[in-house]
Amino acid sequence: AESYPNLQRLSEFKKLSSDDLTFFKSILSDSEILQATADEDLAVFNEDWMRKYKGQSKLVLRPKTVNQISQILKYCNDNRLAVVPQGGNTGLVGGSIPVFDEIVLSLTQLNKIRSFDSVSGILKCDAGVILENADSFLAENGYIFPMDLGAKGSCHVGGIVATNAGGLRLLRYGSLHGTVLGLEVVLPDGKILNSMDALRKDNTGYDLKQLFIGSEGTIGVITGVSILAPPRPKAVNVGFLGVGSYEAVQEVFVQAKQELSEILSAFEFMDLKSQTLAKEHLKGVSHPLEDEYPFYVLIETSGSNKEHDDAKLEAFLEKAMENGSVLDGVVAQDETELRNLWEWRESIPESSQAGGGVYKYDVSLPLKELYSLVDAANERLNEKGLSSTSDPTKPVISAIGYGHVGDGNLHLNVAVRAYSKEVEKVLEPFVYEFVSSKHGSISAEHGLGFQKKNYIGYSKNEQEIAMIKELKNLYDPNAILNPYKYV
Ligand code: FAD
Ligand code: MLT
Ligand code: ZN
Repeated sequence: AESYPNLQRLSEFKKLSSDDLTFFKSILSDSEILQATADEDLAVFNEDWMRKYKGQSKLVLRPKTVNQISQILKYCNDNRLAVVPQGGNTGLVGGSIPVFDEIVLSLTQLNKIRSFDSVSGILKCDAGVILENADSFLAENGYIFPMDLGAKGSCHVGGIVATNAGGLRLLRYGSLHGTVLGLEVVLPDGKILNSMDALRKDNTGYDLKQLFIGSEGTIGVITGVSILAPPRPKAVNVGFLGVGSYEAVQEVFVQAKQELSEILSAFEFMDLKSQTLAKEHLKGVSHPLEDEYPFYVLIETSGSNKEHDDAKLEAFLEKAMENGSVLDGVVAQDETELRNLWEWRESIPESSQAGGGVYKYDVSLPLKELYSLVDAANERLNEKGLSSTSDPTKPVISAIGYGHVGDGNLHLNVAVRAYSKEVEKVLEPFVYEFVSSKHGSISAEHGLGFQKKNYIGYSKNEQEIAMIKELKNLYDPNAILNPYKYV
């Protein structure tokens, strides 16, 4: 993990003292306070999922109530103690961990479902509920959580809202800016903003919750989420297709929209190199398609009538194979096969990280040019002689592309044998310049966090950045929340 030679701890932040601990002990029980000791370095809370960034916090607070969080923040604000809100710590931009000695405020123990209305489909829950648990609860009631992602077993409902994560079904259920109906947020001075609305429509002034969706823990701690869940689809089909070129991937996407329209619920693409890495990682599991193809597409349909959906999918595939845009394909015959096909898509993040580390670029680009960034990155790495799948003296194993085609969101992952400044300098700001020149976004869904804190100017103009800073100064004048990150 990285150290930060060019970054100074801000001296205006107070260092933790025994008085501070006395205060925290007065409002929290023993199990809610974790302190670093000789045998406990709090690594789980100090290191990120990619093992790329590492902080040095000596204190983790895990409150069980909103009132405790309010008292903690008020105290930290009055005493200039810096705080990092942390959910499941699955974020991919180094935003969820401390940089120096900030206190980690973990939402893990604020984890109750508050209420569910089975007529409207509105779920209200604590921020620390794990996404998969929220979805299982909804499943028992015939509903589905309106987003899904590979980290569902660890990430929190509050964490995905704080990140404005996109995930695998955004194409169907839309962004959290639409599905989140209300939030409860503790502001840096301890005030509780309660807007846990259960209304689809409410045009009474500024829509305050939107400020916190995607704010990455910089302006308030989300403690409660009210979200609209759609009915759980009765019939789900998944197909895994082999495709000859990126042009053909786009053709298949257009055909899928036309032929499958309202039942299309995911359209994910992967390049061959991403599947080569996944094969190494999922050793022994046989790939869905026997032959290799330059690109693969995972397509999912979700509907209410299995027979209709089967017929539609079959007709779509027949057409696509006849006109040559799809070269090969399989369709899951049961739940196990369906899970297996998804596994070849969802295991890519882990596979690309398994060789030692990964440089991740999560970008929005015009669909026509989505894959050109992967080609450009490979060309550049090869020019510099940095990349080889077989030569262990080269730092880069492989640069792969995959992502959410339906949302114009590419993931360029550069899998490395170890993190190195040499590789980073070749990729940054090169990737951000490339994206900016195509009028894309340097973060489609993972956020800016620590990784992209110096690069916001590639996607936001001066006036936008000034307004972000003004809002931050207004609500967090002592800048105690998630310092050293993008604001
Ligand atoms: P953390 O990682 O703990 O925190 C993320 C950020 O939010 C930090 O800045 C933190 O300070 C802040 N934060 C967390 N909780 C709160 C809170 N309650 N109040 C205020 N701030 C808070 N992302 C996608 O968009 N799409 C994907 O498909 C996707 N797939 C993934 C697959 C894997 C295997 C992994 C590891 C990650 C994936 N992600 C994906 C990244 C994604 O950002 C996270 O999984 C998720 O959004 C973070 O939730 P978390 O609870 O782990 O938050
Ligand atoms: C994904 O789509 O798999 C996620 O955004 C995570 C990642 O890219 O690593
Ligand atoms: Zn993604």
